[in-house]
Amino acid sequence: MQAGKETGLKFELPSLPYAKDALEPHLSARTVHVHYEKHHRGYLAKLRQAIEDKPEADRELEEIIRSSDRGVFNLAAQVWNHGFYWNSLRPHGGGRPDGELLSKIQRSFGSFDDFKRAFAEAANGQFGSGWAWLLLDAHGRLRVRSTPDAENPLGSGQRPLLTIDVWEHAYYLDYQNERAKYVEGVIDHLLDWDFAQRRMAGLDAS
Ligand code: FE2
Repeated sequence: MQAGKETGLKFELPSLPYAKDALEPHLSARTVHVHYEKHHRGYLAKLRQAIEDKPEADRELEEIIRSSDRGVFNLAAQVWNHGFYWNSLRPHGGGRPDGELLSKIQRSFGSFDDFKRAFAEAANGQFGSGWAWLLLDAHGRLRVRSTPDAENPLGSGQRPLLTIDVWEHAYYLDYQNERAKYVEGVIDHLLDWDFAQRRMAGLDAS
């Protein structure tokens, strides 16, 4: 936001697409507040510090992710991943998609329930911190995978459609160590299938 402009960064902290209490009861306002204001904003502040007066300060966020060494990459990727995560959720989301996206899920995973199982397994099976992704590969097939820490699929040739943050800070206040309950709540009640549909169609480049 303002602070981004002060240091010449080409990107700003994206606004949350909904009120902080809008994801209750599956994610509390407190969790969303801490996650967005402390973690997401904190990654951007640290990134700003790390690249101040360096050539990266003039680059787009995705360029920084693709071209930086580990320390800057981690911060830049976490900024991008969190923006994508907020867009992957919505109040009264979940359920199942329809149309081409549902057909593609059925072709790729066997059934929608098989997809849900695979996505939950990717999220719950990621040891330690990381992310679970629904991806569209170069052959038009959907896949799920997890990535550790800040890593993401940008540059892999696979287009992210949805993500679930499985760092403990995403769920600990609401679910303590029960990641599987958080993941179930996100998949069943919060995923924004309209966002995934727009991503699949190439209409949303965020
Ligand atoms: Fe997070």
